[in-house]
Amino acid sequence: MLIIELLSTVFRESFSQRQTPREPEPTMAMEVTESVEAYRDAGAPNGPMAGVYLFSVARASQALHGCRRVVDLGCGPARFLAQVALLNPEIEFLGVDLSDAMLASAAEHLTALGIRNVKLQKGDITDLSFLTSKSFDGVMSTLALHHLPTMKHLRLCFQEVHRILADDGALYLFDLGRPKSLKTILAMAYIHEERQAHAFSVDSERSWRAAFLPEDFRTLAAEALPGRDLECLSTWISPLMMMLKSRDRALDPEKIGKLKAARKNLSSFCRSDLDQLRFFFKRNGLQNDLF
Ligand SMILES: C[S@@+](CC[C@H](N)C(=O)[O-])C[C@H]1O[C@@H](n2cnc3c(N)ncnc32)[C@H](O)[C@@H]1O
Repeated sequence: MLIIELLSTVFRESFSQRQTPREPEPTMAMEVTESVEAYRDAGAPNGPMAGVYLFSVARASQALHGCRRVVDLGCGPARFLAQVALLNPEIEFLGVDLSDAMLASAAEHLTALGIRNVKLQKGDITDLSFLTSKSFDGVMSTLALHHLPTMKHLRLCFQEVHRILADDGALYLFDLGRPKSLKTILAMAYIHEERQAHAFSVDSERSWRAAFLPEDFRTLAAEALPGRDLECLSTWISPLMMMLKSRDRALDPEKIGKLKAARKNLSSFCRSDLDQLRFFFKRNGLQNDLF
């Protein structure tokens, strides 16, 4: 059954002439308690996000290595940010989010882990006027940009990134990409329904419906982030996940060792999520896999 579903997904995504229209999220900031808690819990060790997070921790660290000040746009409950901050203690991070509930969850988590190299600030990632121009040498954002209601908002966000980022600064943007077919969205959102909160599955469906396309990232990067050496990559067959990032920098062996140990410690389910991301990005040209 799973094989048939898999083959029909590959067929739909490879040959469909149509593209699912974008349906923006109902709100930008995530404030509804059920969604905030479901998302927070999904980021727990061996929760549904664990494999995706570890993949992204490695890729963000490779892109941002050598930075001194990095802002995380739409940091949410900081489950991802905390992992990046722990692996890169020499970097000072600022997490920005519009949601009070998310920021409260983030503050609690960072305190519980004793993390000192992260500060938090409430703010809108389409208007970062509270941050000085060129004041960061790194910007990252994971799984947040699809919350922006329109291309106009995404353009504003990219323009702000360009403004606050030093000329030779590093960038790592990672988000969902919108599949061609609604059936693919439903299959992906509910495939692990039995091992995750229903609210998380519903949130995943909404997120994929609201996601932008790799072409959107490429167009706006050329327009709003001129002169920066960036690459835009997505997963093979369907752009379920995509990234816009600076060229990788070499990580030291100690960090690579920690990443490999973290992969070994994942449950087989989460390790399989991580390995599928590695495989599907590599097929579309992503290099320098550290695992
Ligand atoms: C799905 S969460 C991702 C959190 C985290 N980056 C991660 O990878 O787990 C998306 C976050 O973006 C925030 N967000 C959405 N629109 C925003 C905006 N315009 N400004 C700031 N934060 C925003 C939401 O409140 C939410 O916390």
